[in-house]
Amino acid sequence: MTPSETFSNLLRADAPVLSLAPMQDVTTLDFMRVISRYGGPDVYWTEYFRVHDVSRPEKWILDSITKNPTGKPIVAQLIGNDIPALVRTAKLLQQFPVAAIDLNLGCPAPIVYRKCAGGGLLREPQKIDAILGALRDAVTVPFTVKTRLGFESPAEFDALLPIFARHAIDLLTVHARTVAQMYRPGVRYDLIAQAARALRCPVFVNGNVHSAAQAQKLLAETGARGLMIGRGAIRNPWLFDQIRAQLRGEKIKLPTGHDVLAYIRELWENEITPGVREISQVQRMKKFMNFIGEGVSSPEKFLHEIRRVETTADFWRVCENFLDHDEPMTLEPGAPAG
Ligand SMILES: Cc1cc2nc3c(=O)[nH]c(=O)nc-3n(C[C@H](O)[C@H](O)[C@H](O)COP(=O)(O)O)c2cc1C
Repeated sequence: MTPSETFSNLLRADAPVLSLAPMQDVTTLDFMRVISRYGGPDVYWTEYFRVHDVSRPEKWILDSITKNPTGKPIVAQLIGNDIPALVRTAKLLQQFPVAAIDLNLGCPAPIVYRKCAGGGLLREPQKIDAILGALRDAVTVPFTVKTRLGFESPAEFDALLPIFARHAIDLLTVHARTVAQMYRPGVRYDLIAQAARALRCPVFVNGNVHSAAQAQKLLAETGARGLMIGRGAIRNPWLFDQIRAQLRGEKIKLPTGHDVLAYIRELWENEITPGVREISQVQRMKKFMNFIGEGVSSPEKFLHEIRRVETTADFWRVCENFLDHDEPMTLEPGAPAG
């Protein structure tokens, strides 16, 4: 079975689909390999390929598709607004074992949205209409969209839904915030329920999913077909298996401090590039520690210390000070151990 057939079957089956969110500079081949060892999601997303008139697919992102170490389908995400370039790139990527082609309508980075790509496109619904039409015609594997609710206001979502409905997309993932909101509180899961009711295609929930009980509740409340999880999965790579256990009605296994330390070691070993300076290696790990740290007891203290380390020895000293224990950890943001 091809990855796109496997993905289509997942969307058609009954079980909720669990996916890893695309995260630039995080969801690399190496990170996918690590997460897959913990059970992992049913489907992975690449970070976005930047598409413009002379772009070529970035080799390191393509690697996660051609060297896929997970045994699960991987969706290729595109960001851009140049229609011929998007069509050209989608056609090219289809020659590789991609599960689907996904369009990014959510990136809130000013450097991206000022060029009217990613979240910036949400200010131009007619342009979205044209892009979806062109990509739907060009894409023969499943074609999916990942969106926020609007640029300034969640009220914009009402006008976006008919556009998504018009183009027979195969999946809509909704990060239930606006672009202006960035990552601030106030995730509007009620609007994901609205999308799930209004659209014929499956809908995934995205935004602040960080525990198995909450995941189960969100699936029930929204009627969504699946969940897309980003930062919660960096913090807690056991989360996907915990959700599966919760949905089966089983007791959830919580990792201990020692388990979390072993996970950080595994990340370290996978993220090491031979010959890279010690300080660069430590800096690279901080990308992950910023999220993992939110689940450690006394997160502010931990984050304060880990953000200041510069040597390998100091990095492990701080990690061990907080995690050298056998207490169970929920790894929810701001949660104490236990
Ligand atoms: C470090 C980082 C990088 C991200 N890169 C991307 C990206 O390349 N494409 C995309 O659609 N979203 C990207 N996002 C957004 C996530 O996919 C997701 O929508 C967001 O983090 C909310 O989900 P979460 O609360 O489960 O993390 C990124 C988020 C983070 C934290």
